[in-house]
Amino acid sequence: MKLLAAFASVFPLIFSVERRDVGISIKDDSYPADFRPNFDSSFSVSIQEPLATAFHVLGTNSKLCELILLSPIASDCQLGILDSVNVDGPLEDAFARTAPAAPAGQGFPRQHFSYIETVKIIPGLSFLDIVVHLNGTYTWDQERRITLYESSPDTSITVRKVCTFEPLNNGAATNVSEVVHGQCPILQQPIVQFGARKVHRAQMSLYHTLFGI
Ligand SMILES: *[C@@H]1O[C@H](CO)[C@@H](O)[C@H](O)[C@H]1NC(C)=O
Ligand SMILES: *[C@@H]1O[C@H](CO)[C@@H](O)[C@H](O)[C@H]1NC(C)=O
Repeated sequence: MKLLAAFASVFPLIFSVERRDVGISIKDDSYPADFRPNFDSSFSVSIQEPLATAFHVLGTNSKLCELILLSPIASDCQLGILDSVNVDGPLEDAFARTAPAAPAGQGFPRQHFSYIETVKIIPGLSFLDIVVHLNGTYTWDQERRITLYESSPDTSITVRKVCTFEPLNNGAATNVSEVVHGQCPILQQPIVQFGARKVHRAQMSLYHTLFGI
């Protein structure tokens, strides 16, 4: 437990030092060309809903902001434009966020979004908070039930997340499985790797709360 507490208090500090050093000037065109993931996380949860319902709620833009706001450090989520993209090969291998928009009616739907992450350095001292503005896209393949989340690298941490949906218990439930690959500055890697798995599990464990209310 001591180690956990130490990690938790060091994470925002390193985050802040790094951000002040690096600033927010990382160019958007570094993705996908310079995307070299150095942290990851995989997790799955069973949802007690059939595949079509689970995918509609978690895999499309229908509750995207509610989904993002399950993270305790997220706020001010807004949906941007909804367009679509054509990609080569399967969606899970593609880079959809930076692809040009397809003509209307073609390709996979792509929902743009933005939100704010607030990392508290010292609880109660809000003027020390690190506030990060994130932009990203959520792109989904309705037929294959696969969703791709890509957040923009303005924050020096770039994340790709592939979400897959499979029926369980003869269709009564759904296995929702996510694989995250991310890239962060090398000095942050051990902390981000630890934090990413923790936050990912915490967020997915709340997915069931988006159903049936
Ligand atoms: C993020 O999205 C907002 C709203 O869509 C836009 O005004 C802003 O320019 C975007 N920021 C970046 C860094 O792309
Ligand atoms: C859900 O899918 C993941 C990834 O394929 C797998 O590891 C896990 O065992 C599955 N869970 C269930 C309950 O089938």
